[in-house]
Formats: sequence, structure tokens, C-alpha cells
Amino acid sequence: MAVRRKILVTGATDGIGLALVRRLASRHDVLATGRRPSGEPEQLLPGGVLYTVADQSEPEVAARSVARALLKNNWSRLDYAILNAGVAYAAGPGQETAAAIRQTLDVNLLTTIALAHTLFPYLEKAGGQLTLIGSVSRKCEPDFASYAASKTAMHEFARALREEWRGRVRVQMLHPGPTMTGMYEKAGFDPGWTRHWFIRTGDMAAMMEAAIRAGGSPKTLSFLQYFSGASVLGRTIR
Ligand SMILES: NC(=O)c1ccc[n+]([C@@H]2O[C@H](COP(=O)([O-])OP(=O)(O)OC[C@H]3O[C@@H](n4cnc5c(N)ncnc54)[C@H](OP(=O)(O)O)[C@@H]3O)[C@@H](O)[C@H]2O)c1
Repeated sequence: MAVRRKILVTGATDGIGLALVRRLASRHDVLATGRRPSGEPEQLLPGGVLYTVADQSEPEVAARSVARALLKNNWSRLDYAILNAGVAYAAGPGQETAAAIRQTLDVNLLTTIALAHTLFPYLEKAGGQLTLIGSVSRKCEPDFASYAASKTAMHEFARALREEWRGRVRVQMLHPGPTMTGMYEKAGFDPGWTRHWFIRTGDMAAMMEAAIRAGGSPKTLSFLQYFSGASVLGRTIR
């Protein structure tokens, strides 16, 4: 009989996170988080999915909100935590505002660290897996320097955590490539004609689920993997 896993997905109100929750919801118990107040997200998310507000602009507050939601729903263990929420702001050299830099680091990096520490006992109890969502942009993304810095720092954090948690909780870093979500528009950036090459959101969510199921870290999920690894798209979390 198929086992229903307990899965946390952050940033589940749009884009890849929402597509991932829609894939997982019928087979697993899902707790979704986002910055949007309760009401609207529940209309977007499949029935049965739990939703809690966890605005990652305030890392400790977000981590406490998630801990409260786990308690409230009597979740004492987590099989998978997928830390997917992310934000980016496009800005030329020297034009990034302090507020945008701080928001990028708070949402992408500091909340990831705060959540990892909060979730450790839940994941350990299940022998579970923490998956962090980075980006291929970490290596070089003109006009997105702070975003790239946040994703590089996440990568190194995951590398250290893999050693710290070895034998207790698996830690995985995934780096998606360009995907057709609203992230660029929200960031104030027009990718122009290149958007035609972006991977569809649902396909990225499928690649992500397959990669999470397979484990291993770090992994890039981009064009090469998409065109060469179509056969793994059907692999699902069990
Ligand atoms: N799209 C790409 O090309 C691409 C490429 C590589 C990596 N990624 C990464 O993939 C992940 C998902 O991105 P996406 O493309 O799906 O972007 P998206 O469509 O903008 O979704 C991002 C999610 O994070 C949430 N979020 C943003 N700020 C937040 C905050 N302060 N507190 C809590 N949640 C917040 C968003 O909430 P709202 O719905 O309220 O906006 C949304 O649910 C991100 O980590 C991103 O860096 C994306």
C-alpha cells in the first residue's frame, strides 16, 4: 500500500511551489506556506492541503509560524521539507536598494537557515529529507547579484549541513534553471525572447519531484536534464 508522506513546501502560492503541491496533494499530506494571508491561497491549493502564513521577510517569525502550524495539526514528524520560497530583484550595478538586498537575503537565505534548525527534530524523527531550492543563477547572473549571492550561500549552507546531519537527516540542494513562472515579472525584469526557452512550470515541478525521490546533492535541473532525462519525469515520491 502506498505510504502517505508528510511534506512541507514553502512558497507554495505561485510558480514551481504551487505546481509541486498540486502534484503531491492527492498522494501525500501537504503543509503549504506563503506570505499571502489565509483565504486566497486556499482557493488555489488543492483540497486537503493545509496552509499557513509564514512571511519570510522575518526569518524567526516565519520559522515560529511553521512550528506552530506543525503543532496545531499534530504533525510530530516530517518526511520531506522543501524550502522553495524565493524572491529576486533586478537591478544594475550599484542600483540595488538596501531594502531589496535585505529582503533577498532574509527570504532566500536567513529563513532557510532558521527553518532548517526548527525542522531538524521533525525530520530526524522520520529519517527525512531537507531539500533547498537554489538556482543555476548562483554562478553568474548579471543584474541579480544579491539573488546569486543568496543562492550561493544556500549552496554552501547545504554542503555543511549534509555533513552535520549525516546519518540523521538527508540534505539536498537543487538548482533549477530558467522556468516559466511569474518570478521575473515580480523581480522587475523582462527576459525578452529568451523566455521561449524556459522550462514549463509543471515540467520543472515534475523534475523536482523526481530529483527529490532520487536523493543526491547537489543537482542541476535545467535544459540538459530536461531533454536528456525525460524518462525520470514520472518518478514520484513514495
Ligand atoms: N523561475 C525561475 O526561472 C527559477 C530559476 C531558478 C530557481 N528558481 C527558484 O525556484 C523557487 C520558486 O520560484 P518561482 O519561479 O516559482 O517563483 P514565484 O512564482 O515567484 O514563486 C515564489 C514563491 O515564493 C513566495 N514568496 C516570495 N516572497 C516571500 C516571502 N517574503 N515569504 C514567503 N513566501 C514568499 C511567493 O509568494 P507570492 O505568491 O506571494 O509571490 C511564491 O509562493 C525560488 O526559490 C526561485 O529562486 C526559479
